Amino acid sequence: MNNKKFSKNDFGTDFLWGVSSSAPQTEGAYNVDGKGLSVWDVFVTQNKKILNNDTHFESSDFYNNYKTDIALIKQMGIPNYRFSLSWSRILPKGIGDINQAGLDFYHNVLDCCIENGITPFVTLYHWDLPQELEEKGGWTNREILGWFEEYVRICVNAFKDKVAYWMVLNEPMVFTGGGYFLGVHAPGKKGFNHFIPAMHHAVLCQAIGYNTIKAIDSQAQVGTTYSCSYITPYSASPKDKEAAHRVDALLNRLFIEPTLGLGYPIDALPFLKKTLKYIQPEDDELMKVTFDFIGIQNYTREVIAHSIFTPYLNAKIIPADRRKVYYTAMDWEVYPEAIYEMIRKYDSYEGVKKIMITENGASFPDEIIDGIVDDVHRSHFIKSYLEQVLRAKSSSKKLVGYFVWSLTDNFEWAEGYKQRFGLVYVDYETQERTIKKSGWWYKKFLEEK
Ligand code: FCB
Repeated sequence: MNNKKFSKNDFGTDFLWGVSSSAPQTEGAYNVDGKGLSVWDVFVTQNKKILNNDTHFESSDFYNNYKTDIALIKQMGIPNYRFSLSWSRILPKGIGDINQAGLDFYHNVLDCCIENGITPFVTLYHWDLPQELEEKGGWTNREILGWFEEYVRICVNAFKDKVAYWMVLNEPMVFTGGGYFLGVHAPGKKGFNHFIPAMHHAVLCQAIGYNTIKAIDSQAQVGTTYSCSYITPYSASPKDKEAAHRVDALLNRLFIEPTLGLGYPIDALPFLKKTLKYIQPEDDELMKVTFDFIGIQNYTREVIAHSIFTPYLNAKIIPADRRKVYYTAMDWEVYPEAIYEMIRKYDSYEGVKKIMITENGASFPDEIIDGIVDDVHRSHFIKSYLEQVLRAKSSSKKLVGYFVWSLTDNFEWAEGYKQRFGLVYVDYETQERTIKKSGWWYKKFLEEK
């Protein structure tokens, strides 16, 4: 692995290189300057939802450290920065009154990026629904179509002169699956009766977001992002293969195919017929949208076997540790070919115009010793995945960019602070930042001619 030498230039001079983060994972300042509560602000206070009962209330305090963090991006020579806006910082109640201090904060962040020659890539929704809206049913309530449209309109009107690239949603499969089916993410709801309407409304909001942005700024480049995992069957048995086919439909096809006019993958997942109850006559048309680009976010693959214990899906994941393969601190298998396979898969959809890898990276148990974080595993991980991105690039004309997750260490949802994904180490006691060796490696890579 990693013996083959390749350089930044092999990806072409127009290729977009970046680094990603999100508001709820980094900003802290969850209740200051007029910000309203989000579902995560409430979820983390419930006992045993988050490892070690950690909260994101301070995190890496991007709210007060954004200048330092943007200076670090510049220092590492990274030209593009993807981050998200907090809905309840801008609209404390989700709709209605606007919090000027919230808009001011993002103006400052955007100005700081631009002054430092860094292009902002803005995600509108990275899972932090305003709590007031959750109390009205959140994503399960069809009124979210209007709530979301209002929020997007306010953001785009405010920031259109400073933002050329927008992403509507971050990983709708994860926030609807984790938050409304499994209950392991905010708002902690469970079961099909929550998941199905939440999923359908998120599908519609992808298109509503796109249409709202384009109506205000037709020149904007608008995308949305999808989580994806390369799915392989545990054995060659027809039952394992069919189970893998179902999981692939759930994890990789559910949110993109309706936008492309292909409808829901009911062929593979008959339980999606439950969606019919929520579909209104205009929805089939409303869902369809041709994004300027899609973001795909890949970390690993999943190996799937048939199981009688999971209703509807009849499938289970065979964890990496049981398969005795190399895996990260998240227990995610290191499988670089996964990113190649995912680029190929999304490239094959005719309606997909451009693809960016908007997240890829790894968590390892980093240690800071004498001011140095020698995270050789992370540099190897990124290099080996990049090698596969380059392999895909030779046959995919649609592939236009790659962003590392993440800029700094931050709050990793239900995993709290145990997981460190940053190119930059954060000492959460002092808020001191240290560029890890992987960050220096990325800088050197980006400087290479
Ligand atoms: C993705 C999320 C991101 C981060 C990484 C590790 O699913 O979009 O916020 O947590 O995983």
